[in-house]
Parts: sequence; structure tokens; C-alpha cells
Amino acid sequence: MIISFSTNTNFSRIKLHELSKRGLKEMDRITSYENYREAWNNSHENSQDYWRRIAETYQWSRPFDSISSGDFSDLEIKWFEGGQTNITTNCLDRHLKHSANKKALIWEPNSPDEESITLTYQELHAEVCRFSNVLKEHGIKKGDRVCFYMSMVPELLTGVLACARIGAIHSVVFGGFSAQALAGRIIDCEAVMVITNDEAYRGAKTIPLKEITDLALETCPSVKTVLVRERTGSSINYKEGRDHKLMPLLKAANSKCPPEAMNSEDPLFILYTSGSTGKPKGLLHTTAGYMIWAAETFKQVFQMQNDDLYWCTADIGWITGHSYITYGPLLNGQTTMMFEGTPTYPDAGRFWDIVDKYEVTHFYTAPTAIRALQACGPEHVRSKSLKSLKVLGSVGEPINDEAWQWYNKEVGKERCPIVDTWWQTETGGIMISSLAGVTESIPTYATLPLPGVKPLLVDSDANIQDSKSAEGNLCIASPWPGMARTIWGDHERYRQTYFSTYPGKYFTGDGAKRDEKGNYRITGRVDDVINVSGHRIGTAEVEDAINEHPAVVESAVVGYPHPIKGQGIYAFIISSAQDEEIMAKELNSLITKIIGPIAKPDKVQIAAALPKTRSGKIMRRILRKIAAGEIDTLGDISTLLNPEAVDQIIKQTASIKE
Ligand code: WTA
Repeated sequence: MIISFSTNTNFSRIKLHELSKRGLKEMDRITSYENYREAWNNSHENSQDYWRRIAETYQWSRPFDSISSGDFSDLEIKWFEGGQTNITTNCLDRHLKHSANKKALIWEPNSPDEESITLTYQELHAEVCRFSNVLKEHGIKKGDRVCFYMSMVPELLTGVLACARIGAIHSVVFGGFSAQALAGRIIDCEAVMVITNDEAYRGAKTIPLKEITDLALETCPSVKTVLVRERTGSSINYKEGRDHKLMPLLKAANSKCPPEAMNSEDPLFILYTSGSTGKPKGLLHTTAGYMIWAAETFKQVFQMQNDDLYWCTADIGWITGHSYITYGPLLNGQTTMMFEGTPTYPDAGRFWDIVDKYEVTHFYTAPTAIRALQACGPEHVRSKSLKSLKVLGSVGEPINDEAWQWYNKEVGKERCPIVDTWWQTETGGIMISSLAGVTESIPTYATLPLPGVKPLLVDSDANIQDSKSAEGNLCIASPWPGMARTIWGDHERYRQTYFSTYPGKYFTGDGAKRDEKGNYRITGRVDDVINVSGHRIGTAEVEDAINEHPAVVESAVVGYPHPIKGQGIYAFIISSAQDEEIMAKELNSLITKIIGPIAKPDKVQIAAALPKTRSGKIMRRILRKIAAGEIDTLGDISTLLNPEAVDQIIKQTASIKE
């Protein structure tokens, strides 16, 4: 089924000639499919001109001399060289002339009984400047790394922007990671400051963030200062000389702070993500290219009007929260919402209560949240109005047809286009998506590449699949402004990870299909990365954690289809232990300690042996099939070193199920 929203009256289509009266910025808004095609062609045929025109609509303290240089062979990729800007000037100062009193940020707390906070552009500007001055007073200067380990409080957003304002590099670590995982990231980027909460509220629970930070800092000599944003008021330790309460410092700080002039390729932030091998990688995004990409993709995909209200339910600890809670909406002068709580607290109607309370028009969430809410029953959503909604977005994992239909019918009431946005931490912003109300939304398809993005499908022998409809591993043909420039401290790993499988191309790690009309459907990871509830988890990382258990000899971790999480984690282990239940409990607490609760296995199976190739490699493909219950399609196992291991595991799995 293809749903076309071209007659949707919610979208006041603005004609190009009308737009031109409002200046260059608006003129670049794509307003029809033909317009999209033209922009896409233009972005490739006249790439330099295309990006120059867009970049010129932003504020630069020194104009750029060139548009782009470098390619996927030299990996010296640079955009807008010679230019100087500051992303916060473009997020904040630029809007003060016409929109000082427009709402910039609405913050909704964990509990619906607590007061929300609204900041206008003027107020947000002042808060960011105050925070910038606090950072400076504590010795933070351009190029220093500042780590955020916080819940979704307004100071996470203002703190990130404050770093950007003074040229410090922010690195946000999601509050669900363990002390050890936090320490690993702090050590890798040699952060000099950590900003945290006393505790975080998360639904009915609290998370002791400061206590976890203290534990992490036992092994992090680079950290000189810790700022604590009190939230729950619980009694916590303050280490003399190192730890300070953030709120009194902000209150006393000056509300003016000039922006640091940043070169286009100066680092903006580091964000860690899991890959198929080794420890998490710190992807580095730089100033101008990321800025243009976050702004431009937000504008084209969401197609917001001036009075609309946008809400992305992600956490700022992930890339979605960087690009589409913080930078993208503010660069476009829109109102962004930030939510501290969870979708099911106090009940499964919370998201919809918030939509009605603020009259949210653009709502962006992950399929896992949609499936979880769907499972709670329709009454939570049907009892709400939701009439303010105009556009729905999906991100983080493939959206299955059932979830797509439910989202469309129960939430969007079949009148809101759904933008299924495919992208990655590495890409900086959306790469493949429909444009709301402008190009078609197709269930389970991310659909079309944005201008500047040339996807390629290749087979395992690196042959490009040229036919219109095709299937293969998803690569990108040429650099785009928002791409990560390197892995912090390890450019060679960057090359190995993304550019060595298919030389001259960026390999995404995802598989995809293309239909006759050029629409892309992402089928999921083709490497050893599992996508659990929209979170990327490297199987190698989980295995390393499991192998630290003294009773574990060997382990293999694979993903399997999970009705709510998208994928679950299945751990096969060889162990001297006999009791699977006890082992599962022990491994859960071990993994919680080493990585964090998000990486806990859903199933643990003690196997007699793991299927291996003759060269001794574990055959994960077979384990994946067994975990998914697809034992009829295992293929030829006779060439294995130990084919009997497969039978044993299958028999055991069957007896577990009984
Ligand atoms: C997956 C999140 C299908 C994909 C923005 C990708 C998706 C990984 C989609 C990146 C989508 C993200 N459809 N799959 N719309 N969006 N993915 O770095 O496997 O946390 O490689 O970035 O999520 O996850 P990351």
C-alpha cells in the first residue's frame, strides 16, 4: 500500500515565488516531488554550488573559501574551509532579532505533577551564556573535552550548547551506562570535566548518577572538576576541591558570553557508539558541516511552519537527541520539547497526554516505543484528542508493518504523514527519509535519499547492484557535509571500520532493498551489531563482558527477533556451571556492571559446544538462525568442524521451550 499525502490540507503548500519574498533561507525549502528531484540532481551535478547557496544562509564570522575537499580514499574530508562560525550563534543569537520572545525550549518533567519549564530564545540565550561563563570560570577552554552524564534536565541541553559556544568539545554519555562504561569513554577522550546529576528520575525509579560518576572517576585522572545539577535532592558526596553544585554557579554567572570563532573543521562533539568489534568508538563531528547538515535535514524532512511545536522523545545521550532535539530545531528557529520521563509513567497514555497538553504538531519517536505502547492496549491512545498532530517520525531501527499501521491509524488518525528516517551516529543527520507531506510515505520504507546522499547497494563481492530494484549492503558513494570526520584518536580505525570493506565507499553496516521507484527499505544490520530498542549494541562487547565470568569458557552473542525491542540479546555460553537460571542472573549483574542494563541478555543458554568452522571461527549465522527459531533453513552444516554441536543446541533449545 502506498499512501500519498499530496492532498493533505494540513500542509499549506507555499509556492516558490512566495517563499522567495521571505529570503534565501526559505526559498530552499523543497515543496514538491519534482522540486525534490531537481534538488537531488542539483546536489550531485552542481554539488559545490548547491552547498554554497545553503551555507550562505547561515551566519559566519569569516566567510568560507571553498566548499569541500577530500574523498573516501584520502579520508581528509573537509567542508567550508577557511570559514569561521559558531553553531550557537546560528542556534540562538541569529533568532534574537525577530524571535526573541518565541519559545525555544519546553521542558516536561518526569512527573506530570511537577511544573514544566519554558524558555524563550532570549532566555535560552542567557542560560547558555551563563553556563558558558561557569565553564570558563572552571578553566574550560577551546578544545577541552567535557563529559555529560545526566538525565534529561534542561541543563543538559544548555550545557551542551555552552560547550559549543566556547569551543569545548562535548561528549554526552547516556545515563543508562555503567561506571565502567562511563570511565572508558572519559579515559578515551581525556575529559577534564564531568557534569552530572545527584540522581536521575526515570519513571518510578531513580538512578544514582553521582554515585556512578564517583566510581568511574576512581580510574579517570584527567577529570579535574565535577559539576552536579541537583535534581532529586538526595544526599550525595561532594569531593572537596573537585565537586561543585551547578545551580548556584549558574545563578551567579553573567548572562553574556561572546561566541568563540570556530573554524569550520574544528571539533564540535564526540559521541561514542558500538560497532561490530572492539570497544566503543568516539565519533568526531566538526563544526560547520554538521551544522549545515543538522539544519538542512531537519528543515526538509519535518517541513515545519512557524507556529508548529516539535517533540522528539529521544535522549540527548544519543545522536538523535543531539541533531533533532538540540541543534536541528534551534538552527531552524523552532520550538523544541524535551521530556525527562518515560512513555509508560505514570501510565501508557503519558506521551499522548503531553501531545494534547502542549498541542504538539510534529512527533518523532522510535519503533520500540510504538510497539511497547501498542502492547499496552488502544484505550490509552483512543481516549486522547491528538488533533494537533500533523507529522509523525520514526527513527532508530526498522519499523515493522504492524507498528507502522498502528502509528498511522491510532496516533496519526490516517491524516499525518510518517517520516521513517534512516541515519546513524556516523552520518550526523538523516540520510534517507520521505519529506513530510511532500514525498510519499510508504509503510516500512525509509524511501528516498536526501539531497547530497547517493546510496549504493553492493553484494558481498563489492559489485554495485545497478538494476532499479535491487538488494544489497548499503553504502554511500561520496562525502556529505554532516559525516563524522574520524574516530577520536584513531583515524586508522575509522578507515578500517567504514572504508575498507568496499574501498572508495562508506559502508553503513546495514542491508537494504530498493524498489522500482528508487525507494529504500532498510532491512537491518548485516554486521555483528544488535539493535535493541533502538540502541546499538556490539555483540563483541557483550561477549567480552560475559567472558569475564570465571565459570564461562567461551561465549557467542547474537540478536533474535523480539516483539517489543526489535531485537533481543541471546547469549550461548560454554560453562562449567550447570544452572542456567543462576548463570543468567550472574551474567545480568556482570553486564550491568561492565556496560549497563541496556546490554543485559534476554536469553542465556549453556551449550555443550558452539558450532565452528574448520578454522575455528564460531558460526554465528547458524546461532542466529537457531535463536530466531528458523531451524529449517540452517543450510549446509556438514562442512563444520563439529556439526553435532548444532543438533545438541537445537535439542536443548527445544527442551527449554517445553
Ligand atoms: C538503525 C540512530 C531502519 C540502522 C539514528 C543504523 C534504522 C543504526 C533507522 C544507527 C530506520 C536507524 N530504519 N534502521 N529509520 N534508523 N536505524 O547510530 O541499523 O544509534 O545503522 O543512530 O540504527 O544507530 P545510531
